[in-house]
Amino acid sequence: MTLPVPSSSTTCVITGSSSGIGAEIARELARRGHGVTLVARREERLRDLADELSGAHGIRAEIVAADVAEPDGRASIFSALSDRGLTADVVANNAGYGSGGSFQDLDMESEEKMVRLNVDALHSMCAHFVPEMVGRGRGAILNVASTVAFQPLPRQATYAATKAFVLSFTEALHADLHGTGVTATALCPGVTRTEFFDVGGMSEELAGAPEFAVMDSPEVARLGVEGMDKGKRVVIPGAVNQVGAVSGRMTPRSLLVPFLRRVYPVGK
Ligand SMILES: NC(=O)c1ccc[n+]([C@@H]2O[C@H](COP(=O)([O-])OP(=O)(O)OC[C@H]3O[C@@H](n4cnc5c(N)ncnc54)[C@H](OP(=O)(O)O)[C@@H]3O)[C@@H](O)[C@H]2O)c1
Repeated sequence: MTLPVPSSSTTCVITGSSSGIGAEIARELARRGHGVTLVARREERLRDLADELSGAHGIRAEIVAADVAEPDGRASIFSALSDRGLTADVVANNAGYGSGGSFQDLDMESEEKMVRLNVDALHSMCAHFVPEMVGRGRGAILNVASTVAFQPLPRQATYAATKAFVLSFTEALHADLHGTGVTATALCPGVTRTEFFDVGGMSEELAGAPEFAVMDSPEVARLGVEGMDKGKRVVIPGAVNQVGAVSGRMTPRSLLVPFLRRVYPVGK
């Protein structure tokens, strides 16, 4: 077990915890007795979850309503922690979104913001928290990637590339942190029932996905937190997703990308 022991002066920062996988990661950590710092833009949702978790588990739960894609939003997380005298022993970089459609047809402002959120924000959170954790000799990072990280995806070009960054960065960070007492784990979910598909304008694709391939967010979060607790490098929830990830990694891209252009359903 590598997760630091919960204490009154430490917390778990979870970005994107107003819904979906992030809210479930917060529930999973609170159930284990950890205080949580919930971060997202929708303040009321965060407040409801903080009340639920402190009521159910007697833990400390505070909220930071912030846009993590913006440097000011991240600064407000850092100052909220120092104002309360809290150190972050666990950081789950989960906030993220996707889109579906040929790159040239998509909203470019949103594609650019996706890179700022899925890549820049996650990297900047690690740049802030990892050196502090290493200095203390304890800590755990959970970076939420995706099974789309294992291969380029036509009609999800930006999204898949952002998650490839998350996976590559986290696997290397895991190795860099060897022997420091700090771990980094990449969680790579496949299709999971959350608000993700509505936010990205892809709800029809979720409806069309075969039932056996779709997972629920509590299960995905549980596997992610368990994997982080064991100090795993990568966690891919579900056998179907594990097979997909291996094929994505092993198949030559000259064959895979044209094949996916024809069969991958998103944004058709
Ligand atoms: N669902 C899937 O099939 C799936 C598969 C693989 C990977 N993932 C990844 O899992 C992670 C969580 O997604 P989800 O499926 O749980 O989707 P979700 O239900 O839409 O949750 C996304 C979370 O991110 C937050 N968020 C979005 N933009 C933000 C911003 N600028 N600043 C702060 N918070 C922001 C949202 O909160 P606010 O809107 O309140 O800010 C929300 O809490 C994402 O990184 C996603 O890429 C999802």
